[in-house]
Amino acid sequence: MRYGHFDDEAKEYVITRPDTPTSWSNYLGSTGYGAIITNNAGGYGFYRSGARGRFLRLRFNSVPMDQPGRYFYLRDQESADYWSASWQPVGKPLDAYESVCRHGTAYTIIASRYAGIATEATYFVPLGQAFEYWRLRVTNESDRPREISVFSFCEFTNQWDTYQDRVNLQYSLFIVRGSLTEDGLLRIAIQDHLTRETEEGIIQDIAHHAWLALVGADLIGYDTSREAFLGPYRSYHNPLVVEQGRCTGSDAYGDNACGSLQSDLTLQPGESRELLVMLGIGDARSVGVRTVDEFGSLDRATEELRKLKASWHAKLGSLVVETPDEALNHTINVWGPYNCLITYAWSRAASLVYNGERDGLGFRDSVQDALGVVSAVPDDARARLELMLTAQVSNGGAMPIVKPFEHRPGHETPPDPEAYRSDDCLWFFNAIPAYVNETGDVGFYEKVLPYADRGEATVLGHLRRALEFNLERTGTHGLPCGLSADWNDCLRLGYHGESLFVAFQLRLGLTVYAQIAEQLEQPDEAAWALDHRQSLDVSIQACAWDGDRFIWAIGEDGTVYGTHESDEGKIYLNTQVWSVISGAASSEQAARCMETVNEHLATPYGLMLSAPPFVKTSIDVMRAVVFNPGVKENAGIFNHTQGWGVIAECCLGHGDRAYDYYRASMPAAYNDRAEIRQIEPYVQGQTTYSTFSPRPGNTRTPWLTGAAAWAYFSATQYILGLRPEIDGLRIDPCIPSDWDDFTATRRFRGKTIEIEVRNPDHVCRGVKTFTLNGEPLPDNLVPAKKLQDHNRVEVVLG
Ligand code: GLC
Repeated sequence: MRYGHFDDEAKEYVITRPDTPTSWSNYLGSTGYGAIITNNAGGYGFYRSGARGRFLRLRFNSVPMDQPGRYFYLRDQESADYWSASWQPVGKPLDAYESVCRHGTAYTIIASRYAGIATEATYFVPLGQAFEYWRLRVTNESDRPREISVFSFCEFTNQWDTYQDRVNLQYSLFIVRGSLTEDGLLRIAIQDHLTRETEEGIIQDIAHHAWLALVGADLIGYDTSREAFLGPYRSYHNPLVVEQGRCTGSDAYGDNACGSLQSDLTLQPGESRELLVMLGIGDARSVGVRTVDEFGSLDRATEELRKLKASWHAKLGSLVVETPDEALNHTINVWGPYNCLITYAWSRAASLVYNGERDGLGFRDSVQDALGVVSAVPDDARARLELMLTAQVSNGGAMPIVKPFEHRPGHETPPDPEAYRSDDCLWFFNAIPAYVNETGDVGFYEKVLPYADRGEATVLGHLRRALEFNLERTGTHGLPCGLSADWNDCLRLGYHGESLFVAFQLRLGLTVYAQIAEQLEQPDEAAWALDHRQSLDVSIQACAWDGDRFIWAIGEDGTVYGTHESDEGKIYLNTQVWSVISGAASSEQAARCMETVNEHLATPYGLMLSAPPFVKTSIDVMRAVVFNPGVKENAGIFNHTQGWGVIAECCLGHGDRAYDYYRASMPAAYNDRAEIRQIEPYVQGQTTYSTFSPRPGNTRTPWLTGAAAWAYFSATQYILGLRPEIDGLRIDPCIPSDWDDFTATRRFRGKTIEIEVRNPDHVCRGVKTFTLNGEPLPDNLVPAKKLQDHNRVEVVLG
């Protein structure tokens, strides 16, 4: 079933059926002022933190779904019929109501057509601003004059702390006020008497303000009391005010506040009118008035949307490809990098699922997220990596959560010793070289940065501490301890149990460290790392190979998990793929264990994390047992890991299999079968139900997932093989053998490289000839020093 299509030219996904199986959402704004909007205009807004800065309400996981939001109600004053500019909340029958939603890069346009009236509502937050525009165009497509009233609606929180807003009703229902200012703006104030300033942040016990303004049409009436607007025992689909056709001029005083502004439009046949609603945080009388003065015109809104698009499109322009697979083109050219940028911005803190339980940047997630954006926004990626490096504790471990606006390097209290996770800082070995190789900024390794708690070191020094952290915490088999968890949140090996996944990560870290030390001409450091790697290899080979697979882990009591003799969790994806990625597996082991993966873990929807699911295993060892079999860490398809499977197969030169795996979990590949995943076909989801569940293919937790970065990274750097190295851009594709060719335009260190790859012999991998600007080169590296502003690379595989 298909609900929409990709429009790559406009960089939009166009939803033509509004009754999508789940809410299909988009992100507006920035980390300063964030907003989420669905294809039916549901959603919420927040300042800096989705948990503590929530000013616009959404009822999560509720019935009906994704309400309320940013609504325009329309009422035909002659017939008294009313509807909304998005299909929901009024929900007119779909044989009479047309809806087209275009989710673009940080803007969403929802168009409707009903009873001879067409509307188009455009929602966005201008770059760098703390307010949003809702721009509405209303067109009379009928052949008679029409009297149409328009009512905006949104619902404010009573407390910006979302938990308090929902739970602490004895307090929060008595602190909000709403009114119309002399300038005709709505003023919403929480704890108004505490202070007049809201701009200093999301601290408690200060006043919090929001404002709403109408521009481009006469204000006929308003309501700020939600109860007055909706009426008792009603809902968003049939508000009393809209039914009656007139706002009541209510001033909220306690209970709940909303923002409704009414305008009445008379439209001749064929006539269009446009108006703007502006909604922002800050005091209406100061910030609101100032903002409306500066931004309150249709022309300014047009200009701001143009700037917003230009900014996002430039970010997405770091790589543009044309491959034989349309779905891959949508993914690489628009939605993959956009998903990466949104995940990078919001970590796991704000979506329709992450609704306030997580606040701040999860350490390991955020370091991995940086990997997905190094080519799109290298400077931002560097700043983020610096932030994360300053959240590394001086013992080499990490703070689990970093609050970007509150983090105080050098002054943080480190976690309790038993709270450290074993993998946190090992992700630096993926993300930091990715940044340096992208930019050539080798000096970054020598930049001095503080630790979270005390002391400082160069970036190289931070990397060494990361390795030492794991080298100093090994178990009886010489493998790194799992500590409170490794990548897998559910793993409980006992603090001194040993994680093979971390052993492989550590091995990769030692290799990468040695390479960096060589680049910096520090041979002793390189030798130090390689010595440790050698001992680690001996430990791994002594205990971790189980004939056709690597084991999962060794518990503190010596129990070995993930062997062919285990009843549950006989095989674990991560240790197979990372044995290959880290280079720890011999070539026989690599080939064999990836075959075992294919036999036991491959499904049409992606690779399962493990199999069979846990049912009997104690929760003390394997928390995954709490999940239904076939879901999340319990033998689900954990999409975060799919890119690793792809990379491992590419390392072995298996382009056909790598692509099968990639496509199985590529959202766009499901566009015509969207009912299988159910979530947005344009973004990744954290987990896909596996064949151990009754609903294989259903995917959950859209947008914010490590799947975004790894899917993009594996496709661009391994399948297409465009791999930045310190000396230039390596081009080493590993593609399906039936591809004839592909092209790519890559922005690299300020230069443009146009790449054409031809595959006349239908191989998966192997470069036969390679030319840069017509000059044949000895191998498949485009040397950075030979780059001109515009370059042409021709590659023939064979
Ligand atoms: C979630 C967490 C991530 C963890 C993964 C596996 O994606 O955000 O930190 O690594 O689950 O448990």
